[in-house]
Amino acid sequence: MKKEILRFRDVKLVYHTLRGETIAVENLTFSLKEGEFIAVIGPSGCGKTTLLSLAAGLLPPSDGEVLNDGLSFGYMLQKDELFPWRTIEKNIFLPLEIKKINTAENRERVKLLAEKYGLSEFLHSYPSQLSGGMRQRAALIRTLATNPDVLLLDEPFSALDYQTRLNVTEDVSQIIRSERKTALLITHDISEAISLADRVLVLSARPATVRFAHELDFGDVVNPLKRREERNFSAWFERLWRELNG
Ligand SMILES: Nc1ncnc2c1ncn2[C@@H]1O[C@H](COP(=O)(O)OP(=O)(O)O)[C@@H](O)[C@H]1O
Ligand SMILES: [Mg+2]
Repeated sequence: MKKEILRFRDVKLVYHTLRGETIAVENLTFSLKEGEFIAVIGPSGCGKTTLLSLAAGLLPPSDGEVLNDGLSFGYMLQKDELFPWRTIEKNIFLPLEIKKINTAENRERVKLLAEKYGLSEFLHSYPSQLSGGMRQRAALIRTLATNPDVLLLDEPFSALDYQTRLNVTEDVSQIIRSERKTALLITHDISEAISLADRVLVLSARPATVRFAHELDFGDVVNPLKRREERNFSAWFERLWRELNG
């Protein structure tokens, strides 16, 4: 049994604004095991991004507990958010500068990671010279630069066109699996959730709570495109679609 490294217990989060209160999540309970890949799907505005902020400890819960002691987190967002005036190399080194761990050894490690995943020839290019897919790949390498325990992915593919999205999903899956990272992915794309995750959580409309949790049964098949060809893929799709819309 893998150990649980992140745990939400009856978590509630209330936003207070001048217009009043918004309960974004309530009675939210789940846990994430080391090395596990969880995908979270839910209607838009239900509290998914809030869930990630709670996970990372950026927002303290209004009630309940988030146990994330000693974990380090890396964020990947919808937009790649690479700085246009920095080369790819300078972009992927940025977290090292921010965390003040910009040593030759760490730079070398990050550079090797970039080379391993096909970015060698782009290290001295600027983001605008790369395709959307390549930029997301660079953004993932940057997220991995500080070697975080858990990756928090907030709809990282949703700004890409369909073809690019399939390719980037392949890349990201391969990188996360082979680097043995633990990941929490937010997506509103059911197919994406099924093709990537070990487990899928289906959230309710706001306030978000876990309505269903499923362990997917693709055995050793972790490659997203291969999964899409599996017999049980469409059954999962229909089931999750019903649960999400029911
Ligand atoms: N900083 C904030 N202040 C007030 N309300 C917020 C804030 N952030 C999010 N909300 C509200 O909380 C709800 C959940 O937001 P969010 O977690 O971003 O949803 P999702 O990512 O699922 O679209 C929404 O109704 C949103 O308007
Ligand atoms: Mg969001």
